[in-house]
Amino acid sequence: GSEATKFERNAAFSTLNSEDVSYFKELLGEKSVIQDEDVLLAANEDWMRKYRGSSKLLLQPRTTNEVSQILKYCNSRLLAVVPQGGNTGLVGGSVPVFDEVIINMGSMNNLITFDKGSGVLVCEAGCILENLVSFVDDHGFIMPLDLGAKGSCQIGGNVSTNAGGLRLVRYGSLHGNILGLEAVLANGDVIDMLGTLRKDNTGYDLKHLFIGSEGSLGIVTKVSIHTPPKLSSVNLAFLACKDYFSCQKLLREAKRKLGEILSAFEFLDNQSMDLVLTYLEGVRNPFSSSMHNFYVLIETTGSEESYDREKLEAFLLSSMEGGLISDGVIAQDINQASSFWRIREGIAEALMKAGAVYKYDLSLPVEKMYDLVEKMRQRLGETAKVIGYGHLGDGNLHLNISAPRYDDMIFAQIEPYVYEWTSEHRGSISAEHGLGLMKANKIFYSKSPKTPIVRIFLVTRWALRRFDLPG
Ligand code: FAD
Ligand code: MLT
Ligand code: ZN
Repeated sequence: GSEATKFERNAAFSTLNSEDVSYFKELLGEKSVIQDEDVLLAANEDWMRKYRGSSKLLLQPRTTNEVSQILKYCNSRLLAVVPQGGNTGLVGGSVPVFDEVIINMGSMNNLITFDKGSGVLVCEAGCILENLVSFVDDHGFIMPLDLGAKGSCQIGGNVSTNAGGLRLVRYGSLHGNILGLEAVLANGDVIDMLGTLRKDNTGYDLKHLFIGSEGSLGIVTKVSIHTPPKLSSVNLAFLACKDYFSCQKLLREAKRKLGEILSAFEFLDNQSMDLVLTYLEGVRNPFSSSMHNFYVLIETTGSEESYDREKLEAFLLSSMEGGLISDGVIAQDINQASSFWRIREGIAEALMKAGAVYKYDLSLPVEKMYDLVEKMRQRLGETAKVIGYGHLGDGNLHLNISAPRYDDMIFAQIEPYVYEWTSEHRGSISAEHGLGLMKANKIFYSKSPKTPIVRIFLVTRWALRRFDLPG
């Protein structure tokens, strides 16, 4: 169900009227001013079907100037807005809470420049990640980020959530890969930070404030991103481990022994595997036995086929001899590699098919991470399935609780326990998905209320959205 009831709409802000709609039609043309009920129904609801707003208007600007004019007008009329990319966000940030005007970035999807020497790509914020992947691939480059939602999410949405994903362990976060941005502030002012340089220490680097700010400071309209060269040899191993301790040790060993070629290190427990095998069509278990407790995916990317393969095989052999791995398969071709990735990337989808899902995205010390999954199992007993998976190489756990339906009794066993436990272990309650509506008022579990930036966040967070946080 919708969580909007927990928040009060701020009555000081206006309600859309027919003059507003006429203004937008004049500005953008009829086609970009959408009042169609079916389109609005979809745009009001998030990917998880958990958060639902009641917006009556969706705007699709095509240029930065149009975004600027829209925001300037909404600011003067005190109309609340919500920026929307591919609407794949998992924390209820991409849909209206009440009746905000949806500013959908999908029509700003042009490539601007690509430098084949440096690999610097400049494009509009509404470009779909997968389209950028194909474009740079044709020129021998790769995008430094990869996530299961690539077919729908937009680069502007990725920047605004500081999306992590499957390659962060190798290429680092978007704070390192984004070279520049253009953004429009709530009052319509355009800020040009669209540099293309790797190094530029002339004063404050403002773009970093926009990376991960979830639309709270403005709308990102253009992005400049460094794309690394595509290397010729990629290997993927699907491994089984008897316990979580072995997964941890395997990670430590992989960082030392695969070092420069390691490009992904992901894990899932057998409850995650079960869920995927039960709910996703056409997915097969790569192992003959289904009795393994944990699985790890290790990808290597390098430039020398035989050297990389030898290195990976030697690593797997020593890990097997050392008892860290109980079984393993190396993908023999690209199709098998895709089928392995499908298992890991399909967990979110399988959870949706299984029923209600409580989703937590935590940064925790790797040694402690799985304790929380076990603690949660003890708390919930038979009432719900608790599954753990995630980006182990980055210390990022996806703790998910799957139940037949949303239930207050279950919820009371999960929160605030999950946040308190994370805070006690000096973790983060939002590793890569953002705070959104789900965690807007939970920031204190990860950031000290004494930090000035937290106070600034609480004031600016809702500058565009214009509803009041409780408490
Ligand atoms: P949206 O969902 O539309 O918006 C997300 C937030 O950004 C909202 O607050 C919105 O207001 C704001 N926003 C969007 N565009 C702009 C803009 N141009 N300017 C300002 N604000 C904007 N996330 C990860 O980090 N790692 C993963 O591995 C990962 N895997 C996923 C797998 C699946 C199957 C799904 C459904 C989601 C996954 N996500 C993951 C979460 C999500 O895809 C990412 O957060 C993604 O970056 C969101 O992009 P989007 O274009 O869909 O943004
Ligand atoms: C993932 O890593 O699969 C995504 O972040 C989605 C999720 O957490 O379910
Ligand atoms: Zn993730």
